[in-house]
Amino acid sequence: MFKINYSGVMSSVIGDDNGLTDREVKYFGENFDDIYSEFISERVNYGFVRVLDDKDIIEESKNFYERNKDFKYIVILGIGGSALGFQSILNLYNFSKREREFFVLDNVDPVNISYVFKKIDLGKTLFFVISKSGETVETLSQFLYAYELVKNNKLDVKRHFVIITDPEKGFLREISKKEGIPTFDVPKDLGGRFSVLSYVGLLPAMFIDENISELIEGTKIIERNFIETCLFANILYLLNLRRGKSNVVMFHYGDRLERFCQWFSQLWAESLGKKIGNNGEIIRTGQTPIVARGVTDQHSQLQLYLEGPRDKVVIMIKSKEKTDLHIPNVFGEFDSVGYLCSKSFDDLFNAEFYGTYGALVKEAIPTIAIELEELTLRSLGALFYFFELATAYSGKLYNINPFDQPGVEIGKRIAFSILGKKGFDEKFATKDWFLNKYERTVY
Ligand code: PA5
Repeated sequence: MFKINYSGVMSSVIGDDNGLTDREVKYFGENFDDIYSEFISERVNYGFVRVLDDKDIIEESKNFYERNKDFKYIVILGIGGSALGFQSILNLYNFSKREREFFVLDNVDPVNISYVFKKIDLGKTLFFVISKSGETVETLSQFLYAYELVKNNKLDVKRHFVIITDPEKGFLREISKKEGIPTFDVPKDLGGRFSVLSYVGLLPAMFIDENISELIEGTKIIERNFIETCLFANILYLLNLRRGKSNVVMFHYGDRLERFCQWFSQLWAESLGKKIGNNGEIIRTGQTPIVARGVTDQHSQLQLYLEGPRDKVVIMIKSKEKTDLHIPNVFGEFDSVGYLCSKSFDDLFNAEFYGTYGALVKEAIPTIAIELEELTLRSLGALFYFFELATAYSGKLYNINPFDQPGVEIGKRIAFSILGKKGFDEKFATKDWFLNKYERTVY
């Protein structure tokens, strides 16, 4: 289904300073045995693994879709893990004809919100309100806005909204009961960024393509090749801790992979960027993910990757699918374009992919290449699950909890306090403590 080539991280190819030795890679590091066996026994209890056994999700999603397929506009209200998985799926269909229009409001930029509400026909719109906690300020503010609009237009709230949230807690759960809005559960032990293969990603995705069970089929490939996820995690971990590669670049060749790379970015950053380890010590772990677009960023960021600080590992990801788009045989007599004539755009894309890959390896930048046979729901499902497992396993290697996000919680508390939410009176809520030291005005 996909190939991962690690040649570009091996010391035999890029040298000892930046590359890993056979021993390091093959023996997975000193504590491998213990960590691995612990992971094997724990993983079956992870929320994102257990949710795959819930056969009702596909069935119920289908039923819901059948009852609601006349809607022409689908608007997702959700942010972070509650939006990025769905966006990765939607991104797959970027260039296909669609029966309906999709909008994802994953921000509170007022200009964007007004644009979306002007574009839709409210009577033909289904709003998915997605929030695990049911308390996220961005999602709730949009929900309030949409709710009032639907009410004011004398439309049925129960028909125009669907909620996906915690089975018991939170404002959205309360409102769903009060208003009788159809509601689907996010299991208690399933956090946002790991939730794409639950109702969070699958229910709205049903409105794009009824074959969403293919995503789950894809995870079975990874189950069969489970050890690959640990090997991948281990290589990134070793490159980070032993070779100082504190940034990981997701360089995608294929615009339909852009959102998936953003999804990976969130997963890797929010899960592994931690100050406190499992033993209570300050450790400050994590690698900073960077998303780059091939070939476009060959003309911008690549220069930095090749000649700037040696702090990056690059993952190049590409799908092998082919089109029949050819560069025509015109102006063939000119050296500048003669070599292009009659080549396909696939030839060009591939040549640029391998050109960049080769340049990175030549500069001894650790580079991993992932090549997908094709980019389908099945391979996307495999990728989701591969990186979820690799992230959870990395949590064990770093000895941190990959499923929480204590840092961002503090920012939320301060914002609540600024907005005057009851019970949140953080002492940092006045902005003066960080704003009044050095400010300049430019007219
Ligand atoms: O991965 C996470 O936990 C976060 O990115 C959340 O998905 C994000 O903060 C939105 O939270 P919620 O789903 O509770 O609205």
